[in-house]
Amino acid sequence: MLRLDAVSCGYGAFRAVNALSFEVPKGEVFALIGANGAGKSSTIMAIAGHVRVFGGAIMLDEKDITAMPAQQRVRRGIAIAPEGRRLFPDLTVGENLTIGGYILPRARSDERRAMVLELFPRLGERLGQVAGSLSGGEQQMLAIGRALMAEPRLLMIDEVSLGLMPKMIDVCYEAIAALKADGMTILLVEQSTKRALEVADRVCVLESGRQVWAGSAEEARGDPDMIEAYLGLREEAAS
Ligand SMILES: Nc1ncnc2c1ncn2[C@@H]1O[C@H](COP(=O)(O)OP(=O)(O)OP(=O)(O)O)[C@@H](O)[C@H]1O
Ligand SMILES: [Mg+2]
Repeated sequence: MLRLDAVSCGYGAFRAVNALSFEVPKGEVFALIGANGAGKSSTIMAIAGHVRVFGGAIMLDEKDITAMPAQQRVRRGIAIAPEGRRLFPDLTVGENLTIGGYILPRARSDERRAMVLELFPRLGERLGQVAGSLSGGEQQMLAIGRALMAEPRLLMIDEVSLGLMPKMIDVCYEAIAALKADGMTILLVEQSTKRALEVADRVCVLESGRQVWAGSAEEARGDPDMIEAYLGLREEAAS
């Protein structure tokens, strides 16, 4: 469904990601793992159309979307729950969801909202509360819910578990598993390798903007220390 062919991207003249290639097949969960600054967010923001691509190609269903404006990518089915959530803190939960579904006609947006509230009943109890006053876990639910409002075919979630209590992480990963069971294609960014491996089909480990390991999650689960070692290598190198 999604393919990156030797994508390099970054900011100004700075290359955050170098010649990265991977493929996310339809209906699978793909985990992008790496230490701080490895280029995970840059990669998914480039897929969403928010970070400049210097070279290579981003293909969605065999169509080259490398130069496509971000808005159009949303219409083609790419949605993102970005790092730091980026909610509208002064707007209510309901209003944040409405904004997520702005590309849909009213009836479909209402349907979609019902689906999101079924996935995250907690949000339904807080529809009138401003997003800024939600707990961290609730904000993550809302960020994922808002992304889902656009009826995406590819859902990208940056830092699923970061800063959340274990119980809230469970809620988010249960939702991811439910979406996957429903056929959704998901690209997630994680620092918690263990959590990501529980749900992922494939894994790519980034280090300093380059892929250092890629393979099936099954393979990674069979050798749990391997990915940690890759992450550890970078930390040692940096210190
Ligand atoms: N807006 C920006 N302008 C300039 N450089 C940036 C910008 N955003 C990120 N970078 C740089 O790009 C590199 C990759 O950052 P990126 O945010 O993609 O990493 P990450 O893997 O998501 O890290 P983290 O785990 O901390 O979120 C880093 O060196 C970072 O400093
Ligand atoms: Mg990041």
